[in-house]
Amino acid sequence: MSTLASSLDPQAFTFISNLVRRKSAIVLESEKAYLIESRLTPVVRELGLLNISELVTELQKPGSQNLNQRVVEAMTTNETSFFRDIHPFTALKDKILPGLIQRRAKEKSITIWSNACSSGQEPYTIAMVLAEHFPMLKNWKIRLISSDLSNRILDKARLGVFNQTEINRGLPMNYLLKYFTKEGGQWTIREDIRKMIEFRELNLVEPFPNLLTKMDIVFLRNVLIYFSPETKTEILKKVHAVMHKDSYLFLGGSETTMNLNVRFEREQIGTAVCYRPVA
Ligand SMILES: C[S@@+](CC[C@H](N)C(=O)[O-])C[C@H]1O[C@@H](n2cnc3c(N)ncnc32)[C@H](O)[C@@H]1O
Repeated sequence: MSTLASSLDPQAFTFISNLVRRKSAIVLESEKAYLIESRLTPVVRELGLLNISELVTELQKPGSQNLNQRVVEAMTTNETSFFRDIHPFTALKDKILPGLIQRRAKEKSITIWSNACSSGQEPYTIAMVLAEHFPMLKNWKIRLISSDLSNRILDKARLGVFNQTEINRGLPMNYLLKYFTKEGGQWTIREDIRKMIEFRELNLVEPFPNLLTKMDIVFLRNVLIYFSPETKTEILKKVHAVMHKDSYLFLGGSETTMNLNVRFEREQIGTAVCYRPVA
């Protein structure tokens, strides 16, 4: 059996960081070499290769698109949790949805987009808040679109099955008891909640597909941090173009539109910060 060489040579670093940047816009500075090693070592092992340089050779062979995609996906950070940072969900419940329900009373339609949704805790949180606090929306056309670059993580999101550690991170007990069932050591989300969500693969740096409708609420949290200012600007402009005039954008706690040439205004709603598109 071969032993795994551990040091990443500079050409391999350059190749992988260029590939990841080209395909996902994620910027890997040289101090992130350790991340490449830790994330790609399992792929190297699985393929029976000696080291990441050999993986780079494989990535350059014709017909290696799936392997390229797998490497890009392995380099994404999928950290997430239920009710992450709580404030956006409180604002959703107390102010945003009640206001939208009044303003959309005629068309009876609301569209919410959970972007870079990772393993689904964010869209499932939104779906549970809707079910818990807005039963009157049952007769409305509610679209809860949920997307990510990574098909691997979307497959997990679609299943709606979470382990105890994932459940322990942020999910209140009353939601657990009401919206999940336990099978073995795993918790499965209720089928009616799972069915509220349209999961789709979407790479933020590619042109957006026609989502057939404009957004009332966009969650775009904890993903812009991985991009250059130019990429953030480009993405926010595309997001702006698919938002209704009176809609709301949530970014992650450490993200902002400040210093970017985009047309959003920061608004405080209770304890939450959101961004409103301006013309
Ligand atoms: C840290 S998670 C954020 C999850 C969730 N939004 C939250 O705040 O808890 C970042 C997600 O962004 C996704 N991602 C990275 N680059 C992307 C891109 N170019 N297009 C779409 N999703 C991307 C990753 O696959 C990952 O699931």
